[in-house]
Amino acid sequence: MSFLEDFLLSFSQKTSTVESLEDFQECVLFLGKSLLESTGTWAFKYSSKKKMFTSLENTLDISLDSPCFLKEGILLNSSASSPAIFFSSISQDIRFFSEKFSKRLTEKGALENELELERKLEKSLGILFLFEKQECLGAIEFLFLGEAKEWEKYESFFPVISSLLSGALVKIGLLEKIKRQFLQVCEAIGSAIVQKDSYTGGHTKRVGVFAGKIARECGLKEEEILQVQLAAVLHDVGKIGIEDKILKKKAPLDFQEFLIMKQHPHLGFEILKHIEDVSPVVDGIRYHHERPDGKGYPYGLKEGEIPLIAEIVAVADAFDAMISTRPYRKGLNPLEAYEEIMRFKGIQFGHTAVEGFERFFLNSSMYRQALLKKNRTEKEKEVIKKAA
Ligand SMILES: [Fe+2]
Repeated sequence: MSFLEDFLLSFSQKTSTVESLEDFQECVLFLGKSLLESTGTWAFKYSSKKKMFTSLENTLDISLDSPCFLKEGILLNSSASSPAIFFSSISQDIRFFSEKFSKRLTEKGALENELELERKLEKSLGILFLFEKQECLGAIEFLFLGEAKEWEKYESFFPVISSLLSGALVKIGLLEKIKRQFLQVCEAIGSAIVQKDSYTGGHTKRVGVFAGKIARECGLKEEEILQVQLAAVLHDVGKIGIEDKILKKKAPLDFQEFLIMKQHPHLGFEILKHIEDVSPVVDGIRYHHERPDGKGYPYGLKEGEIPLIAEIVAVADAFDAMISTRPYRKGLNPLEAYEEIMRFKGIQFGHTAVEGFERFFLNSSMYRQALLKKNRTEKEKEVIKKAA
């Protein structure tokens, strides 16, 4: 088997198993490195609504800055039958300097123009467009330092390669749609259960959102982030098996009632344990009231025994519970709730989840707004003090 036949076989196998943007990016890098020998490879999605390309994260072959040379003019020059464009010298190719781009350069100032041009000298660029029914879905940029021999050699195979990558991108879009709809169904189920409790609207959805953001800060993969979100929106599904007189009781629960209430994570596990491929989600539900100090329920697990997914759900649930206003008390300021979570790190909440939560919170608009409010209050206090 020739090198090219071998490559195309591996490439079609790789693209046929793509299920996420991470898989897609792997295929793109494989194409750049193994076939075209590009110095840098970048993948972009195209939005026909916004008429612009956006970079897919983590696609970078970090050897160079990430440029985006894609222009509307270039896009118009391409077509589904000829999905690739090549610029042998970026700095001198007329197609590269669309009117819009030249204007942008002029606005930046002459000196910067020269530096910019010099930086791009001796570089060539290939763009492979991805299409679905004549509509542009995205593009891959391949940057070459010096000559790009491999580009011309394999140019006739670009329609096949483009079609394989386009199919993978369409499949990802469909899978994402199904996942989104599934998450929305789970949110609806979670909300229906929480309405039996004393929460006002939106608790389930917010816990799902917070948990997803914490999971991302913990460095989890896209697939795992979705599992965390599902566990978060369904974490109290076991309450469906708890009597209303306990769930809706306004006064504190007595010992016996609390024993029953403490079974809801286990009941959640019993409800969902037979569903295929959701064991991490079930773990998140089953262990969301466990604590590193062993004082949690219903199993009394200790630090190191609690799955990260359950630790994340616990932090997200506690944070939203603290900032939510309930019939019997006003919600805390997010800053106070954050401080509470930090105070119980390693005691009530797992270290990794709290660290992820801290990164998410300190970068959130919620934190900035709470800080502004706090500072304003202190200034007001100073004014009052001086006036007195
Ligand atoms: Fe719970």
